[in-house]
Amino acid sequence: MKPNAATKPVLLYFEDEIASATRIGQCAGLDIQLIKRHRFPDGELKLRLPALLPPQVIILRSLQQPNEKLVELLLAAQTARTLGAQHLTLVAPYLAYMRQDIAFEPGEAVSQRLVGNFLATLFDALITVDPHLHRVASLLEAVPVAQAIVLSGAPLLSDLIAARRSKPLLLGPDAESAQWVAVAAARHGFDHAVCQKVRHGDHTVQLELPDVAISGRPVVLIDDVASTGQTVAQAAHLLLAAGAASVDVAVTHALFAGDALQVLQAAGVGEIWSTDCITHASNAISMAAPIADALGEVLGRSAVK
Ligand code: R5P
Repeated sequence: MKPNAATKPVLLYFEDEIASATRIGQCAGLDIQLIKRHRFPDGELKLRLPALLPPQVIILRSLQQPNEKLVELLLAAQTARTLGAQHLTLVAPYLAYMRQDIAFEPGEAVSQRLVGNFLATLFDALITVDPHLHRVASLLEAVPVAQAIVLSGAPLLSDLIAARRSKPLLLGPDAESAQWVAVAAARHGFDHAVCQKVRHGDHTVQLELPDVAISGRPVVLIDDVASTGQTVAQAAHLLLAAGAASVDVAVTHALFAGDALQVLQAAGVGEIWSTDCITHASNAISMAAPIADALGEVLGRSAVK
């Protein structure tokens, strides 16, 4: 049956993500509609969704600065169900709270599991990009929804690097980054390696370069996220001291908290490239097309049509 306006899936978005929603909507051939947001003087939120929703609804929310957005998702998802949604997909290009995947000290909240379970109570499906899965094998383990799709920014970042640098060495700053570096390197046959990293605090990391030839080579650091920028900055320091011809940075998620960009600049980093999972001046790659493809898969497989 050909969907009509009342049954065609719709993508709901918040005002600050209109550009991203428009790109995804165009690629996926989906109508997009705004979730209106009002903040009361005391800080509470009121949301207003379109009054009549089709059976398949997608909510777009990239979860950088996540705390208030998790409340938005609670309000929006449960309201969408009362307005007609039977199958709800969350598109969270950046998925927060994935790094705290164990209690490193007794008494610590395992945020990954708690936030993951919370999202799974609200949504049937999840699409995200390069979630930080380190000690768990799959996204479903962290977020137990009925269907979860993990996309990666690595292939498109690799294409960009191939267009901008000749025979670069791709370097991951730590063991976790090996998964993204390997994908990016395989796509264009780049050399690749990873550093060893020990984190001593939010702003303090210690890195050791791998035993590979660096002198005179263009190096591109690849990671899933840059937050304070300390990880890639330390790597850049060491690489330039070892004679690298240039050091550029390619990340999926441009968190860049506080003075991170100045930290990178002071470390001698040249270009910074990121995907548009988080809107940032460094965005050089759009993930709209892969997200649209994943939406096609989710909507095609959903029992509700
Ligand atoms: C952790 O392993 C991540 O992959 C990143 O390397 C890390 O979160 C980056 O953090 P920062 O920029 O604060 O050093």
